[in-house]
Amino acid sequence: MSNAVKTIGVLTSGGDAPGMNAAIRAVVRTSISNGLNVKGIRRGYAGLLEEDIVDMNNLAVSDIIQTGGTILYTARCQEFRKEEYQKKGAEICKKHGIDGVVVIGGDGSFNGASKLASFGINTIGVPGTIDLDIACTEYTIGFDTAINTAMEAIDKLRDTSESHERCSIVEVMGRTAGHIALWTGIASGAEYILTTEEFHGDIQRIISKVQDRRRLGKKNHIIVNAEGVGNSNEMAKLIELATGIETRATVLGHIQRGGNPTCKDRVYASAMGAKAVELLCEGKTNRVVGYHHGEFIDFDIQEALAMEKGLDPYLFHITKKLTTR
Ligand code: ADP
Ligand code: F6P
Repeated sequence: MSNAVKTIGVLTSGGDAPGMNAAIRAVVRTSISNGLNVKGIRRGYAGLLEEDIVDMNNLAVSDIIQTGGTILYTARCQEFRKEEYQKKGAEICKKHGIDGVVVIGGDGSFNGASKLASFGINTIGVPGTIDLDIACTEYTIGFDTAINTAMEAIDKLRDTSESHERCSIVEVMGRTAGHIALWTGIASGAEYILTTEEFHGDIQRIISKVQDRRRLGKKNHIIVNAEGVGNSNEMAKLIELATGIETRATVLGHIQRGGNPTCKDRVYASAMGAKAVELLCEGKTNRVVGYHHGEFIDFDIQEALAMEKGLDPYLFHITKKLTTR
């Protein structure tokens, strides 16, 4: 098979996610083994516009599979939302001989990828975000590591909450999606899981539940709160005032985005990076890689962006039973 592209560029964009380095490594090594040149575009679309472009070889991606973050750095670039800059980005690719680009990021980054494709650069998206909020795929790079990080943190909070007989509100990331909250809430045996999709501000129900559990002898209470639901510190004050139980809020924040990727994130990110290069070699463009029912597949970017994703209905269903103590 003769390759449809000769030089592949790879960039990471939007929020970083553990496993992005494994994906970069796979893009570089699969490209080289297919006889292609490969260049790293640093700092996402911002770096593309500034021509921050470096040659990559097998050694450049040695010893990175186990590391969090992204060796190519990442950025958010508002300019790239405008057509003149998208066109400029495509021209810069051509100037550097880049005829195929792999964009590792979330939905926003895929919008940018699609624009590059419309200006003649073969472009493939790889889902990289801890939020799991990309509808066309059951897996996104970094989610598995992030939920394990959050779960371990909540286990630790449980210890100190028990010692002090406190209520603890733990805020997890996810932008407007509740997947991280749902998974970590189940895994840590939370008494309450608040997600943007399912919680509509009924704080009185939480207060009543905390009071019921306390009457039954429960000494600590863990409430996992998805960012976007509401201010965790304010909620803590309301719960403490209504129940008389000391309540603390902990915002886990960016620690969820770092750390060594789990085995799953390393392996799936490697598969997705390799798949993206294979698609480019087949002459495909404007596609995004996904994982569905045990297979790595690809979708048209516009179709993928039009899909909608809710919380896993069965996981949500079981939380109602499992959070009863
Ligand atoms: P994510 O990729 O994780 O969803 P963002 O939504 O912040 O993160 O998007 C990352 C970057 O993708 C933006 O900073 C911008 O450079 C680019 N981008 C986002 N939306 C668009 C768009 N509609 N058109 C072109 N580029 C976009
Ligand atoms: O999309 C990943 C994410 O970590 C979201 O969960 C969060 O809302 C956002 O990025 C935080 O962005 P920033 O790093 O710009 O604070």
